[in-house]
Amino acid sequence: MEFQRIEEHVKAAYGIDLASYKSKQLVRRIENFMLRVGAKSEVEFISILKKDEKISKKFQDHLTINVSEFFRNKEMFLQLEKEIKDRLSPEKNVLKIWSAACSYGAEPYTLAIIMDRLTKGKKHNIIATDIDLTILQRAKEGRYLKSDVKNVDGNLLDKYFEIRDENYYISEEIKRRVTFKKHDLILDRYEKGFDLIVCRNVVIYFTQEAKRKIYEKFYEALNSGGLLFVGATESIYNYREIGFEKAATFIYKKPGGK
Ligand SMILES: C[S@@+](CC[C@H](N)C(=O)[O-])C[C@H]1O[C@@H](n2cnc3c(N)ncnc32)[C@H](O)[C@@H]1O
Repeated sequence: MEFQRIEEHVKAAYGIDLASYKSKQLVRRIENFMLRVGAKSEVEFISILKKDEKISKKFQDHLTINVSEFFRNKEMFLQLEKEIKDRLSPEKNVLKIWSAACSYGAEPYTLAIIMDRLTKGKKHNIIATDIDLTILQRAKEGRYLKSDVKNVDGNLLDKYFEIRDENYYISEEIKRRVTFKKHDLILDRYEKGFDLIVCRNVVIYFTQEAKRKIYEKFYEALNSGGLLFVGATESIYNYREIGFEKAATFIYKKPGGK
């Protein structure tokens, strides 16, 4: 990384280890942000970050990129729903599900809606994590914009959202089914015993090495027969080396199970 000092500051101030993020992309993002706030050197930039809390928070958001939406790549979520139904027997089992790098909650709430649709009120265990505490706070609030719910069918909107003042509030019933926690995919240890892990649109920012470690840890965290669902540009080329089988496009399976 060209920005040694900034890297150190980011580690100290936000607890984020930039060494595992792809260097070229990151340098471009940092340069863009420095330009925006008029900082001409690393030292000047760090002093701005230390002085101005708002800019500092914006910079953290800029680094972590929180874009998300409900049913992101809808046809893939419909495929996932089918795989859950066919492979994980959700009507018989209480499933343990992890939405990793969940941003402001659209993804885990989508999973909660799918599970409700599949098993009509049965409670599964859905854990949603992100590195960013502020975004987790937003996720818990469960308030969304029209653009976040553009892929949600009308009947699901009616059933699972309350619309007030042009905001879309996720229903309390669905909200209660998701537990949010802070977790860093690079630095923290992983829980075990998952039937489904959903991790989308975050590993694209990581180096090859970091990515591989994450997928190995997901493998360990899954039960036999468990599924890993990744993003639309995140095919795992070496999935066999790690031990996975392919269940569907963008869905991998840990061998065993039913
Ligand atoms: C583009 S969003 C993806 C949201 C959702 N998974 C989706 O596909 O719509 C990326 C998220 O990854 C989180 N993130 C970045 N680095 C992380 C890390 N090391 N550990 C956990 N989450 C991280 C960011 O805070 C952000 O909320």
